[in-house]
Amino acid sequence: MNEAVVIRIETPERSERVKVPYREGMTLLDALRWIKEHEIPDLEFEFSCRNAQCGTCAVLVNGKARLACEYRLEPGQEVTVGPLRHLPVVKDLAVDWSAVTSRLRPLSPKSHREWFRRMEPEKQRKLYELRSCIECLCCVAECPVIKAGSARNPGPIVLRKVAEEAEKWDESPEIDDSVYACTTCHTCAEVCPKDIEIPAKAVETVRARLYEEGKGPLPEHKELGERAVRTGRSVEKRDRSFLEEYSGEYGEGDVKAMFFTGCLVDYRLPDTGKALVRLAEELGIRLIVPREQVCCGSPLLRTGQHDRAERLAFENLETFRRVDPDVIVTVCAGCGATLKNNYPELLGDRFEWDVLDVTELLVEIRAHERGFRLPERTTVTYHDPCHLKRGQGVEDEPRKLIRSIENVEFVEMEEPDRCCGAGGGVRSGLPELAELMSDVKAHMVRETGAEVLTTVCPFCEYNLREGLERNDVEARVENLTVLLSRGL
Ligand code: SF4
Ligand code: SF4
Ligand code: FES
Repeated sequence: MNEAVVIRIETPERSERVKVPYREGMTLLDALRWIKEHEIPDLEFEFSCRNAQCGTCAVLVNGKARLACEYRLEPGQEVTVGPLRHLPVVKDLAVDWSAVTSRLRPLSPKSHREWFRRMEPEKQRKLYELRSCIECLCCVAECPVIKAGSARNPGPIVLRKVAEEAEKWDESPEIDDSVYACTTCHTCAEVCPKDIEIPAKAVETVRARLYEEGKGPLPEHKELGERAVRTGRSVEKRDRSFLEEYSGEYGEGDVKAMFFTGCLVDYRLPDTGKALVRLAEELGIRLIVPREQVCCGSPLLRTGQHDRAERLAFENLETFRRVDPDVIVTVCAGCGATLKNNYPELLGDRFEWDVLDVTELLVEIRAHERGFRLPERTTVTYHDPCHLKRGQGVEDEPRKLIRSIENVEFVEMEEPDRCCGAGGGVRSGLPELAELMSDVKAHMVRETGAEVLTTVCPFCEYNLREGLERNDVEARVENLTVLLSRGL
């Protein structure tokens, strides 16, 4: 096939649209080289290895940071290319990395090679992933903290370096609170061409180390951790809790689902819990709501308080064993991600239950085919919680369900999966950063003209609601479980 590809080059100096003859296996870098040779001789861009090893060819492709040498083009495709964001542009697509890379110098005077050679093999293996960084800075271009205009996060690559260096320390040196300016949103891991798990392997590891040495986390995180262990909930109790009123058994059906409420639904957002009970009764789910359940431990794990999270996990294990459900259902992205991703590690093979987000369960029982109906025409937009989309790989199910509601006009916002700033202990520890990030989302919601902003995470819900109020955006926030139950 010989259909041309179209490359739009959008840089501070030029805006060009060039047709490039397609050839089998062509990458974006091949196309840029063709353009330089045949159309724009002074076009500037960097590359070296052409094999995803040197990191120099990173650019924005349709707004997302990618390696040009890895990005395969399809015949007839049109892509827009620009320089990486957050870095000074030297010319066209070439950027100056030094502002970030100068921060990657070793933090300890110990010789790097000497140190690595002496390290136990197991520790070396742990570090291989962190050390496979090719310094492409895709993660810096996409980190939502930096995108929101905050300088508190020095960049995921720098946090990665801090974690690597931490292995050299016998005891951690004083470290500023930049390691807490990360929402553990996993955006950096998603775009990293080397699949480096910066939030889990770097950020949370350093936070855990600081906690063990009594140097962290932030005071608000400590308070939250102590409360969770003391009371079983990470937030303070106000009125009668959802579980005090609604623990029991509801609905009939083949699937025996245990409702794991999470702290916010139990203590702050009972309507979400009630909505799930209604959905279960109407849609044929046998829902068990046990009174004895505690915080999943997510806010503690994200801030390094592992021993406390482990205690909570073992408390929950007792209930899981007693109920022995077919599936545990969550309505909080943070709980779901923790149960799916951390409990197998915390509890080993004692943890033997499937966990589903409420949207996964509803799609599995084909609730979207049955459909829902709102009495009045409503424009709805959806926010992807980080711990649902990137933490659990769930993004289609909520959309399928929203689209199945009659009288709903669904409009996507500009970046539905941009982190709102609620997670990773940022909302509790660095609230001004959480505000800055939710302000960005509020503007995106305003642009859609939506009347309802829906999501599947109570932490996002709170943060977004405040963002909308602060920015006088008229849309109201409604949990998707509540929206669906209204459409029954
Ligand atoms: S997890 Fe998110 S907030 Fe944290 S460093 Fe990565 S991209 Fe930035
Ligand atoms: S961590 Fe990954 S995305 Fe970030 S600079 Fe290194 S290789 Fe690139
Ligand atoms: S040219 Fe080296 S990573 Fe792309």
